[in-house]
Amino acid sequence: MDWSGRRVLVTGGAGFLGANLCHELARRGARVVALDGFLFGGGANPKNLDGSGVELVRGDIREIDLRPLCEGATAIFNLAAQTSHMGGQADPLADIAVNAVAQVRLIQAAREAAPDAIVVHASTRQFYGRPRKLPVDENEPVAPPDANGVSKFAGEQYWMLEHRVRGRPVVSLRLTNCYGPRLRVRDARQTFLGIWLRCVLEGKPFEVWGGAQLRDMTYVDDVTEAFIRSAEQKACHGRIFNIGGSPPISLHDLAEMVVRLAGPPAHYSTREFPADRAQIDIGSYHADDSAFRAAAGWAPTVSLEEGIARTIEWFRPRLGDYL
Ligand SMILES: NC(=O)c1ccc[n+]([C@@H]2O[C@H](COP(=O)([O-])OP(=O)(O)OC[C@H]3O[C@@H](n4cnc5c(N)ncnc54)[C@H](O)[C@@H]3O)[C@@H](O)[C@H]2O)c1
Repeated sequence: MDWSGRRVLVTGGAGFLGANLCHELARRGARVVALDGFLFGGGANPKNLDGSGVELVRGDIREIDLRPLCEGATAIFNLAAQTSHMGGQADPLADIAVNAVAQVRLIQAAREAAPDAIVVHASTRQFYGRPRKLPVDENEPVAPPDANGVSKFAGEQYWMLEHRVRGRPVVSLRLTNCYGPRLRVRDARQTFLGIWLRCVLEGKPFEVWGGAQLRDMTYVDDVTEAFIRSAEQKACHGRIFNIGGSPPISLHDLAEMVVRLAGPPAHYSTREFPADRAQIDIGSYHADDSAFRAAAGWAPTVSLEEGIARTIEWFRPRLGDYL
């Protein structure tokens, strides 16, 4: 698909995944509007869009008039979300307002202003809860372990309903842990890897909670490619896909890799999983993403080792912008 000159809306466009996607779409010639409310505790950072040439609109999807932003869009990449699991537990009403109620606002605006736009929705593996078996495919029962999982599932389902009832081409990508440049590294709110990277770049020890849990990780460039292919490939439209990445790795082995790649004085300690977090922890997870690979012709191109090395080097000269 030729993106040049096409109008594209990216919600959550100043956040980690949204900004990386904006850069790539702009590089391919799209006229990109990034909508972001710079929500407290999220991954939004004005620096994230530096050099992209993307138009940034500061606004909240719960309030702003979304119709002018949707007008004429070929595609809407919908990444705005309240992403904090602990935040969702603490304030489930605020969580559902963004992840479910505001999704319906966007659906209604898109009906009026962009009835033919393709929508690629950022969903999550989180709402599978503790998997019954590994790897996890799309038939795994949904059993959200926390309020954020409930609201994200509801948001996804409103979008899929729009496909079933109105025929809009909608794709929902259930992402696993993503990482790479522009990640929120200030703390662990986006992922545990964020705070690990901050610590090694500051020469401080980081903590591994537990250590035996398995995770698969997707490098952000592979996530970006998955979003773009989802829009481009008709075989993806109307479907929900798990997106994985690297072969599964234990947190302990991942910590060893981070320490090795960062070099001295990087080091870490291990502690038991904190009780308040253990209640909403999903244990081990890795995705069966074969359905997406078959439909989109996608496969991750950046190995975990390469991705971690690239991320560390990207942040070294820029850490101050992300603290
Ligand atoms: N990063 C991951 O590992 C991961 C994993 C699973 C799912 N996801 C999903 O991918 C999407 C992007 O996640 P991310 O990691 O880039 O997080 P992020 O916090 O960096 O990006 C989300 C962006 O949405 C914005 N936003 C939130 N509420 C908004 C509102 N009401 N109005 C306007 N903007 C709002 C935030 O300011 C932020 O910039 C989310 O939908 C998330 O649930 C991410």
